[in-house]
Amino acid sequence: MIRFLLNNNEITLEEINPNISLLEYLREELYLTGTKEGCASGDCGACTVVTSKLGVNKSSLQYEAVNACIVPLGSLHGRQIITVEHLQRGESLHNCQQAMVDNHGSQCGFCTPGFVMSLFSYLKNNEKPEREKILEALSGNLCRCTGYKSIINAAFSMYQDYISDQFDASRSATIKKLERIKNEDTPSFLSAKNQQYLMPRDIRELCKLLHEHPEARLVAGGTDLSLEITQGLKKFETLIDILNVPQMNSVYENNGHIIIGAAVNLTDAKATLVNLQPNLTELIERFGSLQIRNRGTLGGNIANASPVADMPPVLIALNANITLMKMDSERTIPLEEFYTGYKKTQLMPQEFIKDIQIPMSTRHLSLRAYKVSKRIDDDISSLCAAISIVREDGLIKEARIAYGGMAEVPKRAEICEKSMLGKTWSEVTIEDAMARIPQDFSPISDFRATAGYRLSVARNLLKRYFLEENGLDNEKFRVTHYAF
Ligand SMILES: Cc1cc2nc3c(=O)[nH]c(=O)nc-3n(C[C@H](O)[C@H](O)[C@H](O)COP(=O)(O)OP(=O)(O)OC[C@H]3O[C@@H](n4cnc5c(N)ncnc54)[C@H](O)[C@@H]3O)c2cc1C
Ligand code: FES
Ligand code: FES
Repeated sequence: MIRFLLNNNEITLEEINPNISLLEYLREELYLTGTKEGCASGDCGACTVVTSKLGVNKSSLQYEAVNACIVPLGSLHGRQIITVEHLQRGESLHNCQQAMVDNHGSQCGFCTPGFVMSLFSYLKNNEKPEREKILEALSGNLCRCTGYKSIINAAFSMYQDYISDQFDASRSATIKKLERIKNEDTPSFLSAKNQQYLMPRDIRELCKLLHEHPEARLVAGGTDLSLEITQGLKKFETLIDILNVPQMNSVYENNGHIIIGAAVNLTDAKATLVNLQPNLTELIERFGSLQIRNRGTLGGNIANASPVADMPPVLIALNANITLMKMDSERTIPLEEFYTGYKKTQLMPQEFIKDIQIPMSTRHLSLRAYKVSKRIDDDISSLCAAISIVREDGLIKEARIAYGGMAEVPKRAEICEKSMLGKTWSEVTIEDAMARIPQDFSPISDFRATAGYRLSVARNLLKRYFLEENGLDNEKFRVTHYAF
């Protein structure tokens, strides 16, 4: 049985297709058709709804805009779901709806409920409108007809005359209800037609369930896995959701390392990663969209083993380890040894990633990460680079240069790195190292980029690192959002 709040109404479900998405449930079971379906793959934002969960200090609610088309319904246990239908206040529109009307933010209207929900989430999470943050909040919503200027104007104007809304009024009641669900001592699951969705509440239970169901697939945020259902038309017999496993949801320091639980999503991991390395801000903000980062986890990004995933090169450059766990054993390995081939990893049957460990000493590194993609927002990388070069007395002492999109796995440029060691920090050294990139990689051509383009960009990113480290005004290079 799972239990969640639909607006303020408590819903209990047990027998329902465990492979169903939140969007299918809303539209096809509840006929809440205000939420639209566009791409069914997390790309367009038409299906955006807002979920809220208990905040870290438990007396607050954390609002998250999510793509309902790729959120497994089972993962909503213990959360509140707010859709566009719930915003209206009696006969009046909510501020974020009225602002869209006042600013002519809608033409055909198909994208509008999704935009409204992204605006609503922004309003609940931010005391004032700030342009850069608004652009980030809207980066996962596509509009083909209106143009974004009027929608951005709506984001500013929804703050006018806004004091509080019905969600503020019912906040403490909502918190109490969510706390009660959280404290219930009943197992959370969905099942129907020989399929099941299981939600263990701690790591021992997770190990046990994996042992009992060796065929099961793990699901964290579901932003990769759900595409196997919506695009690949797969049906999973057993899904085991890890979002409620506390040991995989925390961030803490231990033994000179920052430990990030594998089920921590990118939004929640951002502060820790940026605190460690401020240069990671842009890369993280360009990881999918806010809706994707609100769901997608660090562990999922690693385990999915995509050669173009953005976080593995960064974590490899930071010399991160991962802890792998199964029933009665635990082992910690360097992330760079995790990948064994295209979409292949060291994970053994029933084993899972428990956490990611980043040495705190990497705080002192000059790490820079670059994402090259066809679109600035919400796009998968053509290639991605994370570069860290340590210098001492003008000589290169250590180099860790990792690329995604250059091989069948995220991988270090070892020949290139070695060529620099002990040499002077100079353009000659860097250009010599750049020339060795083709010895490290033989990338493929695909619909994202040709092999030649990948090699050439990989070389040039190394030069860019050199120039930026030497204080060249990087305004010239920095990727900025287009001005609307
Ligand atoms: C529209 C869109 C945009 C995207 N943009 C980007 C992007 O810019 N950069 C990028 O790198 N990725 C991107 N992705 C891919 C995806 O969002 C990320 O890979 C994300 O981090 C996956 O995490 P998740 O929690 O959603 O994983 P899930 O989908 O839940 O799981 C992915 C896989 O990992 C397994 N798994 C999950 N957690 C564990 C664990 N702890 N141990 C073992 N196995 C596990 C699952 O069984 C599954 O096979 C995008 C996806 C979409 C749909
Ligand atoms: S329908 Fe396009 S993101 Fe969900
Ligand atoms: S108003 Fe038509 S797609 Fe946005």
